Amino acid sequence: MLLFLRRRKTRLPPGPRGWPIFGNMFQLGEMPHRTMAALRENHGPVVWLQMGAIKTMAILSAEAAAVFFKRHDHAFADRTITEIMRVHNYHNSSLALAPYGPYWRLMRRLVNADMLVAKRINDTAGVRRKCVGDMITWVAAEARKSEPGRGVHVARFVFLMTFNLFGNLMLSRDLFDPESEEGSEFFTAMMGLMEWTGHANVTDLFPWLGWLDPQGLRGKMDRDMGKAIAIASRFVKQRLEQHRGGNESRDFLDVLLDFQTNNTEQALNVSDKDLNIFILEIFLAGSETTSSSIEWALTELLCNRECLRKVKSELNRVVGREREVEESDIEKLPYLQGVVKETLRLHPPIPLLVPRKATEDTEFMGYYIPKDTQVLVNAWAIGRDPSAWDEPLAFNPQRFSDCKNNVDYKGHHFEFIPFGAGRRMCAGVPLAHRVLHLVLGSLLHRFDWELDCNVTPSTMDMTDKLGITMRKSQPLLAVPKFIPTK
Ligand code: HEM
Repeated sequence: MLLFLRRRKTRLPPGPRGWPIFGNMFQLGEMPHRTMAALRENHGPVVWLQMGAIKTMAILSAEAAAVFFKRHDHAFADRTITEIMRVHNYHNSSLALAPYGPYWRLMRRLVNADMLVAKRINDTAGVRRKCVGDMITWVAAEARKSEPGRGVHVARFVFLMTFNLFGNLMLSRDLFDPESEEGSEFFTAMMGLMEWTGHANVTDLFPWLGWLDPQGLRGKMDRDMGKAIAIASRFVKQRLEQHRGGNESRDFLDVLLDFQTNNTEQALNVSDKDLNIFILEIFLAGSETTSSSIEWALTELLCNRECLRKVKSELNRVVGREREVEESDIEKLPYLQGVVKETLRLHPPIPLLVPRKATEDTEFMGYYIPKDTQVLVNAWAIGRDPSAWDEPLAFNPQRFSDCKNNVDYKGHHFEFIPFGAGRRMCAGVPLAHRVLHLVLGSLLHRFDWELDCNVTPSTMDMTDKLGITMRKSQPLLAVPKFIPTK
């Protein structure tokens, strides 16, 4: 009996044999989401990997994800903290990386109940419309300068737009503004943070190498994080001075400041540093995710011309040619919604979600999972799981009006989890939902699109690369032809 219990207790999920010390780290390569998905065939939907010193469980099917989120969400509600996120003690103030406990609950409630509530999101629709309008003007200007048939790098403009969008929602100011030195400095520092965060860091796998910083990542992160925090703190200071001058605008920073100064015992737990880091986190969470999704959506549409024709014809019918797309149109645009969903199914920007961590020893689907095990839920593999999706590799937005018409990304359909699910699900879904539809709808409504003259649907490079998000490895170059309003 004792032997049986001991055996049961050590029954880890199956997985590929690893090397001594290094474990499986060299087997996963540069596209771990793809390599892990392929492991499902030999090892099943729950796979055990040893990544250097880190014990890891990968979830690879919709069914296993359903068990994970429905029955074990609480036992895996912590996060793995990477070495680079410890710089400037970022992890101690971050909402996304906070251990599952009182600080996380406090910040999460602030976001859900005060910041990203429907009323406040509705009140800021004009800001988003203005930023998207500016982006359309930039793209049109770039197209005028380009040689005939040569595409523009669309995702770059979307990325710059998201910076101004979050700048306006958080701080009521454009941040990508060549006139403002502080704005450009912040932009450059944030670009650095995204770059360094996206690199695989060998000291995560071998913590004892930490003091060496062999790739120099910690040093670079330290520099850029220091700059970004200093600038965010200047923004906050300027705002406090404006308040003294009686400025009445209410953006997300006002919500944060009110929360911090309303003198309840809970609010006193939020320090000035927490507040500055929260500002950075919103930029980190929202900008690359949005721009990479739009890039993939346009790529898929340009390779699937019939889908492009259908979505444009829906926009012309519902919005017409005399006005711009508005967020209030989204509900009347089911095909556009299908395009966004299909894009997020095939190309989830965070393919392995944000890694979770076991808070205690847990039995999961008959396996013993020790405390502190890292969990990678492979949303990319799950979105392509053949037991959950017909013709999983086909780009077919119509499926969300037909057989999958009740399926959405709000965390209840475990075959489709680009925003995760459970307690640690993305806090920005209501905002991301509007931004993605508004941006993509406006780009399709204002322009006719063709591929760059050097590319055809059959030669289009569809490979991805994993940095802070999963981007197209070759940026999409597409030719926009401006359609003026009547
Ligand atoms: C296309 C857009 C976006 C995608 C695909 C996305 C995806 C995700 C994913 C996969 C997670 C981890 C979920 C999990 O572990 O189960 C996450 C977490 C998070 N996201 Fe997003 N996100 C997007 C936009 C945004 C925006 C616009 C914001 C804020 C305004 C935001 C704020 C957050 C926060 C704060 C967390 C951490 C939640 C927690 O740990 O409690 N995201 N996001």
